[in-house]
Amino acid sequence: MNILLTGATGFIGSHLLRALQAQGHQVTACVRDPASAARQFPGPRYITCDFTRDHTVASWRDRLAGVEVIINAVGIIRESGAQTFHALHFAAPRALFLAAAEAGVKKVIQISALGADDQAESRYHLTKRAADDVLAGLGLDCVILRPSIVHGAGAKSSEMFRALAALPFIPVPDDGRQLLQPIHIDDLVRVVLASIAKPEAGCPRIDLVGPEPITFLDMLLQMRRWLGLSRPRVLHVPYALLLPLARIGGFLGNAPITPETAAMLRRGNCAPVQALIERFGINPTGFVQVLDGTPATQADRWHARLYWLRPLLRLSIAFTWIGTAIVSALLYPAADSYALLAQTGIQGIYAPLTLYGAAALDLALGIAVLTRYRLRETVWPQIAVIIGYMLIISWALPEYWLHPFGPLTKNVPLLAAILTMYAMERR
Ligand SMILES: NC(=O)c1ccc[n+]([C@@H]2O[C@H](COP(=O)([O-])OP(=O)(O)OC[C@H]3O[C@@H](n4cnc5c(N)ncnc54)[C@H](OP(=O)(O)O)[C@@H]3O)[C@@H](O)[C@H]2O)c1
Repeated sequence: MNILLTGATGFIGSHLLRALQAQGHQVTACVRDPASAARQFPGPRYITCDFTRDHTVASWRDRLAGVEVIINAVGIIRESGAQTFHALHFAAPRALFLAAAEAGVKKVIQISALGADDQAESRYHLTKRAADDVLAGLGLDCVILRPSIVHGAGAKSSEMFRALAALPFIPVPDDGRQLLQPIHIDDLVRVVLASIAKPEAGCPRIDLVGPEPITFLDMLLQMRRWLGLSRPRVLHVPYALLLPLARIGGFLGNAPITPETAAMLRRGNCAPVQALIERFGINPTGFVQVLDGTPATQADRWHARLYWLRPLLRLSIAFTWIGTAIVSALLYPAADSYALLAQTGIQGIYAPLTLYGAAALDLALGIAVLTRYRLRETVWPQIAVIIGYMLIISWALPEYWLHPFGPLTKNVPLLAAILTMYAMERR
């Protein structure tokens, strides 16, 4: 079949892409950056789409020529800039679904989310439900799949939960008894594949869940056991404290918890599994069963432990640059700085130029690291500046190698830290 798949570069979309191709379907993958997608996931035909802009039927019309099935797997868990829930979960899918009805597309499969129902409260769920309602009202052959948390290779939520599980103190909201019912990605893929050929009347909304609920705390403890780590202490964080932390997280933009995710966790994420079994004849695999079926590797342990160290490393490197800039430009006596520069042969007008020029450079590098601005490109100037400073000081003030505070020797681990940041921050 000719299938248009959106979100093909994402966790769920990339698993779907592989499975659809393996089944011999002709996939058109609709992505933001076709060149980079084609490098990572070769095979399908790529076209460009952007859910922050494609909000009109006209923007989808040409893309749907010859398309028989649409699978929409675009979504976000937190907003940032133009990436809003309204745009990605509602405005673009609405236009896509209306265009599908107009073009006579045979089937639409919408990946919604468990909780996008009448009790929905979060904007994540409300915008999903609004798009689901539009689709259901079009009289198309369609199915709305509402997965609980999806786990499996590449799942971002599982990566974060594993990182929580690897901490010496596992933090859980309140008593940690919030119920989840994770479904494995392979089961979700099987449902989507089965849906393609299964005519549906009335655009049913089907909850995709694992065989039984598991508490948030038990899920983390099982992950910790799987990682082969000793039993931890559990840190119960009152929800009243979690919420302000989540607000700060939401404000910072990249934090693992936001008010939306905190509210979703509190509400729980469970549903009867019977509909899935009866409709598709699929018995989903249990969470613990999946863990036990795939032993943890050293890479899993490293990833879990480095997860929180990654932002810490970047912030500490930014702190070093910005702190050095402030100290050298504002706090350290200028006369003493000039005396040091004189020992390297820099005097007169060149002394303040060098002092404040170097401070400005340090500050610029620090801000770039802090804001992740062109991080890959700014790694090499950072290394060049450090090596440059080290060479000049080694030549003019070699006694600093023997200084008990180690002003030069400490640059050696700093260089390694910058390279480590480069390796971890690279996409
Ligand atoms: N994972 C779960 O546990 C889970 C549970 C329930 C429901 N869902 C739903 O399932 C869907 C897929 O989730 P996922 O886990 O696969 O998410 P994901 O890994 O974050 O993937 C999201 C996909 O959306 C694409 N995308 C983001 N912004 C876009 C834009 N402006 N225009 C076009 N494409 C854009 C991304 O493309 P880029 O590569 O260009 O960023 C990526 O392909 C979402 O709707 C999500 O709400 C997921």
